[in-house]
Amino acid sequence: MKTEKIMGLMSGTSADGLSIALCAAGPGKELKVLKFSNYPYSSALQAKIIAAREMKAPELSALNFELGRLWGGMVRRFCRTHRVAYKSIAVIGSHGQTVWHSPGRRGHTLQIGEASFIAEETGRPVVCDFRPADMAAGGEGAPLIPFLDEYLSGGGRPAALQNIGGVGNIAFVGKGVRTFGFDTGPGNSLMDTAVALLTGGRRTYDRGGALAYAGEPDAAKVEKFLAMPFFRRRPPKSLDRSEFSEAFIEKHFGRVTGANAPGVLATLNLFTAASIALAFRKFAPRGTRELIVSGGGALNPALLDNIAALLLPAGVKVRSSAELGLHPLAKEPACFALLAWLALKGAVNHCPSATGARGPRILGKIIKK
Ligand SMILES: Nc1ncnc2c1ncn2[C@@H]1O[C@H](COP(=O)(O)OP(=O)(O)O)[C@@H](O)[C@H]1O
Ligand SMILES: [Mg+2]
Repeated sequence: MKTEKIMGLMSGTSADGLSIALCAAGPGKELKVLKFSNYPYSSALQAKIIAAREMKAPELSALNFELGRLWGGMVRRFCRTHRVAYKSIAVIGSHGQTVWHSPGRRGHTLQIGEASFIAEETGRPVVCDFRPADMAAGGEGAPLIPFLDEYLSGGGRPAALQNIGGVGNIAFVGKGVRTFGFDTGPGNSLMDTAVALLTGGRRTYDRGGALAYAGEPDAAKVEKFLAMPFFRRRPPKSLDRSEFSEAFIEKHFGRVTGANAPGVLATLNLFTAASIALAFRKFAPRGTRELIVSGGGALNPALLDNIAALLLPAGVKVRSSAELGLHPLAKEPACFALLAWLALKGAVNHCPSATGARGPRILGKIIKK
């Protein structure tokens, strides 16, 4: 097996933009991020994507193609910027944009962003639509990232890997651990929604955690939120971002104004951190002493501080994946590059113990020009 260049595309539930990673994959489970870029969406496109769950078929069909065309163009920009020749890329994996995810019995999920445009642009094989095969096999369709965590860290010291995108998800891996993972609760979505409500959509996130740092959290509210049934459920479990949305904020905080925003953000930030700490304390295998954080949440220092403070008494060290040389936004696209590469080889790219599926499957649909 030789080392090959593989590309991954991720557009997460935050709908903040497309993250693209170019990686080197090779023998001995080698996987290294070579190049990474993030292409933010306009706030109008972000709002449209978040509203997609309410769309009728013609609009949804149009959005599917709009995103596919847009991503084809972003791949072109990426390859120009980083001077990557299309023919040097062995395969491209595109997660797509989730517009609906309901796990469970008779569950269903929908990722859009027509990948044929990426294949047409590059002439390279593209793999997309990874989640349905897992759900057809009885899985929750999520999380898929623990496959990467096991691939990279399965043989090492037990560790917890926490990704904080729109929702949060954790995976436990390491020597002697049967890899498992699940959604921990809200990721950035609640904080993002509060900021969007505050600014009428002009700003979409609490940059650097500035608002959260400026306010005092309401600990009683956080306790109340943590009593929600989702946090007591045993894994596997997964969450749709809609469970923690505008309605949640309106119900518990009323209108978000300049006056109450710091307190609201401090409380939501602490709640998000506490849901992660709770997941760790409830479910981490014995001997797990490290939590490595990736995703956009790792770029929010107030959130990292809160998680670290909550896990300190348990003797757990909290680190950003950046400390290990992995840009927090590169992990998910790197994962879909790997899943695509394995799918093209006809190799298992699936961790059924994380999703609850009946057995290992080859996830993804292959497009060849
Ligand atoms: N500098 C920053 N400060 C605070 N939060 C940030 C920063 N950069 C990104 N984020 C957060 O990360 C989110 C994007 O994270 P990402 O991992 O891309 O999520 P998803 O996978 O759902 O798209 C943004 O919506 C924002 O909440
Ligand atoms: Mg994103």
